[in-house]
Amino acid sequence: MRKKIIAGNWKMNLNVSQGSVLVHRLQERIKTTKNVEVILCPSFVSLQPLSLQIDRRKFKLGAQNAYFEDEGAFTGEVSIAMLRDLASYIIVGHSERRHKFGENDDLIAKKVAACVRNDIAPILCVGETASERAAKETKQTVHDQLSVGVRDLTSQNIKHLVVAYEPVWAIGSGRLPKPHEVEEVTSLIRSTIAHIYGQNVAEKIRILYGGSVNPDITKGYLEIEGIDGFLVGGASLNYEYFSRIVATAQELEGE
Ligand code: PGA
Repeated sequence: MRKKIIAGNWKMNLNVSQGSVLVHRLQERIKTTKNVEVILCPSFVSLQPLSLQIDRRKFKLGAQNAYFEDEGAFTGEVSIAMLRDLASYIIVGHSERRHKFGENDDLIAKKVAACVRNDIAPILCVGETASERAAKETKQTVHDQLSVGVRDLTSQNIKHLVVAYEPVWAIGSGRLPKPHEVEEVTSLIRSTIAHIYGQNVAEKIRILYGGSVNPDITKGYLEIEGIDGFLVGGASLNYEYFSRIVATAQELEGE
């Protein structure tokens, strides 16, 4: 059975002390259970202090980005190797990285491979823009982003991969795809992986939905066939919303 994931992407929000207050509040509200992994993805500067503060039975840490080279003359970058002891996950290819910082599929593939090489699980984000959706190119876009993104993985190490389907037009907009649309893309993601790596491998990969996730949709979206959790942006900054999302997932999964 695939363990559910609820991941909070704080984006470029919360300084170190604000992040610490949020974790304190979440820690009071979120129960320890075995069946749901809760991942917090703060800014780089908060990873170290939060690694000392978090209750590890409740939370894991993730980074929002990192560079694929282990070290060297790359001013301003943080390497995936540097994050080894701090983060269990790294978000790779988030649409804001793709569209605001010009990251392409080739760079993203190198980052995915570097995560796996450093024993950190990549959360590879894929998703279509509004114009790709209007042109009915959703499936082609997701297929291309995914197949290039995983190109350097083997059937052995791909099992650590997590894929987040995040329609770009749904991020931060309050707009949501219909559950059947999410299901179609989820099944495309799994069949694309099955085609390259086989059905057994594809069944183990966890697929998250992201884009305007809020507590009210949690139950319905977790019931979508093939969805294994969420990558939550805005609502992860609100301790009541985020702990409600986690609680709903825990209730559905049992203790
Ligand atoms: P949102 O962001 O939940 O605020 O739409 C999701 C994301 O960007 O991962």
